[in-house]
Order: sequence, then structure tokens, then C-alpha cells
Amino acid sequence: MTDKKDELSAQAAEQISNLIRKNKSVNLGLPTGNTPLLMYQHLVKLSEQNDLDWSHVHCFALDEYLDSPPEHSFQTYLESNLYDKVGVPKANQHNPATTDNYDSIIKEHGGLNLTILGIGLNGHIAFNEPGTPQLSFTQCIWLQDTSRKALSKTFGSLEATPITAVTMGISTILASQTIVMLAFGADKKQIVEKAFANGVDPNVPASYLKLHGTVSVLTDTQ
Ligand code: GLP
Repeated sequence: MTDKKDELSAQAAEQISNLIRKNKSVNLGLPTGNTPLLMYQHLVKLSEQNDLDWSHVHCFALDEYLDSPPEHSFQTYLESNLYDKVGVPKANQHNPATTDNYDSIIKEHGGLNLTILGIGLNGHIAFNEPGTPQLSFTQCIWLQDTSRKALSKTFGSLEATPITAVTMGISTILASQTIVMLAFGADKKQIVEKAFANGVDPNVPASYLKLHGTVSVLTDTQ
């Protein structure tokens, strides 16, 4: 019997796979972190089963550290969990730390068709930390302590954890045609409720998603 997290991860993977099967040239906004790992595993399996053609799929990383060793970069994460496994052409692997005018590049490709998001414990989406205005675009940011503490497990210590990153902005994300947010585990329950139970609050950036018409929140915290 698969658990809810696995079921929802498979559902998100299915949505990406169906989009690629239906419309060859697709632009995806892709997250990193622990939450989407299972989704990527399901997506790799679906890609093999359906022989998905990734040659016209453009993948846009939501964010990237600016001061991380290469092995912990989000580019490496996406290469090892998706790109190398399904054959995303190098030229289609877009990263905000190595691409100037990220928002214009996204627009030139026709905009994001589907963006998958996680949520930080402080309600951040991508690396838009509390206080980020709705009218924000891809930009460099300072990571807040909550985020650095949560990330320090990956880097071994708080001192070794990056301080700066570059992230798609709130407006960049909200311009996506469709958005799917994944949130799993008891530790995300409170912040998911806070984000969606009240009004839009810049101190809980995930609450901006209430302004978007087609957001699905796949969560096992209900
Ligand atoms: C980082 C990423 C976010 C991600 C968040 C939660 O801050 N920039 O995109 O949603 O962590 O990560 P996890 O899924 O590991 O809880």
C-alpha cells in the first residue's frame, strides 16, 4: 500500500509526464530539496515507461545558491535526480545563477507552463524569504536564519551553509500557467495552514499563491 506522500508525488510526476506527452515543447519551473525527490523518482520511471521526448522541454531551476560548493548546488541536484536520467539537453537546463535576464529568457521561451514548488518552514517559495514583495523578479537574496538552519544538515554545519542565493521572484512564479505545491510531513502542516488559511501576507510568501488561479496543493498534512 503506497503512502499518501508517495501517491501525491506520483500524481505530480504524472502531471509533468502528461504535459510533455501532450505538448512537445514544455517549460517547467523545477524545485529542489527533500520534498520533490520522490516525484523525480516517479518522473524518471514514467519517462522510461512512456519514452518521453525531453529534447524540447526547457527546465528552469527555481533558484540556486551563490556560495555553495558545486556538489551541493541545485544544478547538481537536478542533474543527478532528473536531467542526466531522462536526457534533458544541456542547453535546456536553465539556472538563474548562470543566466542573465532569467525572466526575459523565460518569456522568450513562452513562459512557464508548469511550476512545481515546495515550501520552506518560514513559508518561503523558491528562495523568496518572508518580506519579499509580490512585485519581485529573479534576484539575488540573503538567506534568512530559519532557511539556513534547515539547510545546514546538507552542509554539515551552519558556518558551511550558504548565505546568498538567486531566486525566481514572486511575480516570476505567479506568471506560470499552472502551479503545483508539494508539502509533506508534520513539520510543514503549520506553515501550509498559515499560508492558505488567511489572507495574502508578504511575511508568508507562499500565501501569494492564493492570487493564482490554478494552484494545486498536494499535501499529506491535512
Ligand atoms: C529550499 C528551496 C525551496 C524548497 C525548500 C524546502 O529553501 N529553495 O525550493 O521548497 O528548501 O525544502 P524541503 O523540501 O527539503 O523541505
